[in-house]
Amino acid sequence: MNDSLKPPPFPSVVGTTLEAHIWAGMRGTPGATGEFASLLNSVTLAVRIIHTRVRAAGLAGMLGYTGEINVQGEEVQKLDAFANEVLCTVLERSGHCAIVASEELEQVKVFGRSGKYIVCFDPLDGSSNIDVNISIGTIFCVLRAPSGDVQTAAGALQAGHEIVAAGYAVYGSATTLFLSTGHGVHGFTLDPGVGEFFLSHPDVKCPERGNTYSINEGNFARWDDKVKKWNGWIKSESKEHGLPYGHRYVGSLVADAHRTLVKGGIFAYPADRKSPSGKLRLLYEANPMAFLFEQAGGMATSGVDRILDIEPRGLHDRTPLVIGSKLDVEAYRDFMLGRR
Ligand code: AHG
Repeated sequence: MNDSLKPPPFPSVVGTTLEAHIWAGMRGTPGATGEFASLLNSVTLAVRIIHTRVRAAGLAGMLGYTGEINVQGEEVQKLDAFANEVLCTVLERSGHCAIVASEELEQVKVFGRSGKYIVCFDPLDGSSNIDVNISIGTIFCVLRAPSGDVQTAAGALQAGHEIVAAGYAVYGSATTLFLSTGHGVHGFTLDPGVGEFFLSHPDVKCPERGNTYSINEGNFARWDDKVKKWNGWIKSESKEHGLPYGHRYVGSLVADAHRTLVKGGIFAYPADRKSPSGKLRLLYEANPMAFLFEQAGGMATSGVDRILDIEPRGLHDRTPLVIGSKLDVEAYRDFMLGRR
């Protein structure tokens, strides 16, 4: 057969929409009612709506600030507020969501007791990159709502190992959505003409080791000595150990994590003198990413401890975050434990 007529290596890729993938997952789960699949499809609808606004933001007067300050003490971008509103509205209307927790909300929103799930999200990650046309994204995870008549904020305070699904969308050169329901990680690319996500990255595996490191080196003076030592090591010259690694840093977690997941390497946002508990938020940034990295065979720690085992105390808890290829995250941990 002429090579150009041969089917692509993953025949199932062609024409598999994200919606079909989600429903197929439901059909493979004994006792599934369709509520979980329907909830996930609502999240993907919200992502498609946010995508259209992000793409047209400069024309639609959606750049710049609302004039408000959010719970993190940061100025709220118009697109942040819009993305938050879209996710809240779509999830409320889905009827399957009991509670949402968002970076943009001081408290959770409780929608009622009929919903079986809780969704935690950062509606638009990488806000500082919005106005300069650099990749931004949406990060989310889904938890089961505790049974009982009354849902409260405490329902969202679950350790990451309770997550039942997590994903992120990157609004970059293309809009992609990477999702895991606990059976590996699968990546989808939006065909904007059709308005559908199609499977483009089946069963993503984070390489065991990479060749790039991603960290805001502008914080060097604020790091403790162990982080400085690791940083010196990873950019030192050693052919034997495959060093130095190249440096890559976008400043949007979704973009830095996405590159690290697909190509391998390490992303680190350690604690420092300015952010003694780290900068990134546990419930809707670190936990979803940690779930995805573990599902793809990578690793996620706070430097030493597994992210998914951290018990949250508050909705907006922060944590140091180190994610990436298993061997790269283990090497970082060795430095933190003083073994190197
Ligand atoms: P957000 O835009 O949601 O507030 O978060 C930005 C986060 C994250 O996306 C990124 O990894 C990190 O902040 C970048 O921080 P620095 O500018 O301190 O490097």
